[in-house]
Amino acid sequence: MPETVRGVIARSVNAPVEVVEIVIPDPGPGEAVVRVQACGVCHTDLHYRQGGINDDFPFLLGHEAAGVVDAVGPGVTEVAVGDYVILNWRAVCGQCRACRRGRPQYCFATHNATQKMTLTDGTELSPALGIGAFAEKTLVAAGQCTKVDPAAPPQVAGLLGCGVMAGIGAAINTGGVGRGDSIAVIGCGGVGSAAVAGARLAGAGTIVALDLDDRKLSTARSLGATHTINTTGLGQDDVVAAIQAVTGGFGADVVVDAVGRPETYKQAFYGRDLAGTVVLVGVPTPELTLELPLIDVFGRGGSLKSSWYGDCLPSRDFPMLIDLFLQGRLPLEAFVSETIGLDDIEAAFTKMHHGDVLRSVVLF
Ligand SMILES: NC(=O)c1ccc[n+]([C@@H]2O[C@H](COP(=O)([O-])OP(=O)(O)OC[C@H]3O[C@@H](n4cnc5c(N)ncnc54)[C@H](O)[C@@H]3O)[C@@H](O)[C@H]2O)c1
Ligand SMILES: [Zn+2]
Ligand SMILES: [Zn+2]
Repeated sequence: MPETVRGVIARSVNAPVEVVEIVIPDPGPGEAVVRVQACGVCHTDLHYRQGGINDDFPFLLGHEAAGVVDAVGPGVTEVAVGDYVILNWRAVCGQCRACRRGRPQYCFATHNATQKMTLTDGTELSPALGIGAFAEKTLVAAGQCTKVDPAAPPQVAGLLGCGVMAGIGAAINTGGVGRGDSIAVIGCGGVGSAAVAGARLAGAGTIVALDLDDRKLSTARSLGATHTINTTGLGQDDVVAAIQAVTGGFGADVVVDAVGRPETYKQAFYGRDLAGTVVLVGVPTPELTLELPLIDVFGRGGSLKSSWYGDCLPSRDFPMLIDLFLQGRLPLEAFVSETIGLDDIEAAFTKMHHGDVLRSVVLF
């Protein structure tokens, strides 16, 4: 029987979110219903509410979640009822060109549930990133459920479902940061500070955190930043000079842009050493454009990369990172600024906008 549960939707551009009744269908072939235990508030949820992703309103928001499998549809073998899982938004297909070439982290045909969750009047909902986990239960593709050790509490485990994984992966998987490398991270919210933590985990030597907000910089320092730079009021040349000053005059081997604006991208582009790597993990809004002298793109060498979900493979990375958390080597709890209820998401957006939190996490 389809079930009715409470969920948080965005009805139209910039309208405050609403807690409403939503209908969860029984899982069909290849699908699972998950009882959500915790879901973090990510900047991407706010992008959806602002109309910055697409126009498929109403959205069922929330996508950074952990919970327990409640029901599975016919033919589902990868998870079973009762499994403790982190939800992922890139369930690889195994069939597309990227998957067949052995690069499933770039899968071009990732799976979501086939059926739609709806409002009680039948209006179909667009789940954020194919998840929609600001809800007591949600319907996903079974491949979106990644089993992890239940010893990790849901409010920390869920964070790996998006921002923290994106940040750690941007540094380690996309940027390839390793022992002794230097890295600079521009924008140290949930994603950027996770890139800092990932760089420490990988053994980076110099880790430079940049942000406009001293509170973010102090958290970044506690997560492993060796240097911090408040870029408020600084022009591009000043930012670049400040990065060079703490990297032996060279610039960083890897610069992660966790903001996603032309000015931060240019800081990243010029703040890296020759032949270094720029990683764009912040998501730009559609109207933004970038202009760079082509001779500099050539002359500075290296690589310009984008990081989708930290180029992670959930089945490989989630259990591994949870194990490192349980061993005390990855302080996931440091990312949880507060736990809140389903009614508090609009307030959490405001706190995020003002930079008051790294992550607000809805606990069910
Ligand atoms: N690529 C992916 O797979 C992926 C996954 C999750 C989130 N994201 C994106 O990553 C970005 C960051 O997400 P978040 O949840 O950490 O957001 P957040 O709001 O928590 O953090 C953004 C941080 O950037 C800082 N900032 C803003 N403008 C700046 C500037 N000009 N210079 C320096 N710092 C600046 C803010 O002070 C804040 O600390 C968003 O664009 C989000 O959509 C991408
Ligand atoms: Zn694929
Ligand atoms: Zn997210």
